[in-house]
Amino acid sequence: MEDYKRNSHTVWDCEYRHISWPSSDHTLIPCDVYIDRQVFEQEQELIFRGPTWHLSALFAEIANPGDFTSTYIGTTPVVLHHAHDDSINAYVNRCAHRGSRVIGELRGNNKFPICPYHNWRYDGTGKLLGVAMEQGMQSKGGYPDGFSKDCHGLKTLRVEAVGDVIFATFDSQAPPLHDYLGTVIVDRIETICQRPLQIVGYQRQTVPCNWKLFVENNRDTYHGPQLHTFVGQFGIAMPADRVSVDIHDAHALLSSWLPPSGDKDDKNAYPVQKGKYELEDPSIAQGFKALGDLQLSVISIYPGSLFTCIRNSWSCRRIIPTSPGTTDIEYTWFGYEDESDFERECRKKQSNLLGPAGYIALEDAEVLAMTQNAISRGDTSYIEFGGTGIESASDHFNSEATVRAFWKGYCETMQIPLP
Ligand code: FES
Ligand SMILES: [Fe+2]
Repeated sequence: MEDYKRNSHTVWDCEYRHISWPSSDHTLIPCDVYIDRQVFEQEQELIFRGPTWHLSALFAEIANPGDFTSTYIGTTPVVLHHAHDDSINAYVNRCAHRGSRVIGELRGNNKFPICPYHNWRYDGTGKLLGVAMEQGMQSKGGYPDGFSKDCHGLKTLRVEAVGDVIFATFDSQAPPLHDYLGTVIVDRIETICQRPLQIVGYQRQTVPCNWKLFVENNRDTYHGPQLHTFVGQFGIAMPADRVSVDIHDAHALLSSWLPPSGDKDDKNAYPVQKGKYELEDPSIAQGFKALGDLQLSVISIYPGSLFTCIRNSWSCRRIIPTSPGTTDIEYTWFGYEDESDFERECRKKQSNLLGPAGYIALEDAEVLAMTQNAISRGDTSYIEFGGTGIESASDHFNSEATVRAFWKGYCETMQIPLP
């Protein structure tokens, strides 16, 4: 890769001549990038292990020394670990010996994990502490003189946080997290983290589409009223008083507010309206105001993280590519540590709208599978709703500017030459 750069060719010039980028304003996307195996591999190198930050855990998940949680960044298994010395660390879950996964559990507490294969023993910072049979047996075998455990730790990542939200990056050259996210997104995360968070639960889902289709869908304000028609037909939709779209680099923040009301703690903030049809159990839509009149806050962080607060259904989602045509979504549902039983119950019920088996998410998953299945080599995708620009701070949802912003960031990180 370095050689390509030195010769002033981009990786794209050298390896993907069969894919040419059709427009410099990101209104046309070559659909080969959703299906090509080589592109998928290059994304791992340049995007997921490149100068990007990934939402990896909430502090509430690893609040005590020894707590860990396992996830992926791209296809790389990663552990977030609260070490015995109270530091928060991220490391690749791959033993420095012959590569077994060191930690097999999704989450738990273990101050000194031991690799199951030959029992190398680490601490929560990734440092190698112990090696089985280091001196061999009865003065035979073992490691040669000069072997140093200090040279065989786990591969570590940089870790930074905003509020209670922990991010990790592989790249020592990545900008500081606050600069990467921008002030508006940092402020929103800090606002939501104003009280200590608590985990409500976990869910995961495999979606049969390329990871970029899933990212596009979650920042796409165009499809909501068209695809999710039942929301209006069953009277679940609440008219917004105002909306905003903020774009910072390739990230997007979508917001919508209810009409202002005097009652800041309204326990019945989302009454079901009279629609064409009626819900048999309207309590699925019941909710309370947790953020004043803000009813929707969707932060899509480039490349593949979501921090989503829609009504009382709050989640971090990690978008994990597993192949060109399959993507895993890891949901971490959260609320406030000090909230009431009623409030906690509302959050759980509303996940039936927005969780992986929820009425909204299943429509998204279905339409994304239909999109993936219809792609043939040479196809293009057309993204010109709202014009050709990437304007920020807009006051309407009638644009695909957020999707164009994703592709602008994608071309930059993938070093794609534009026409
Ligand atoms: S692969 Fe982990 S100790 Fe051998
Ligand atoms: Fe949707």
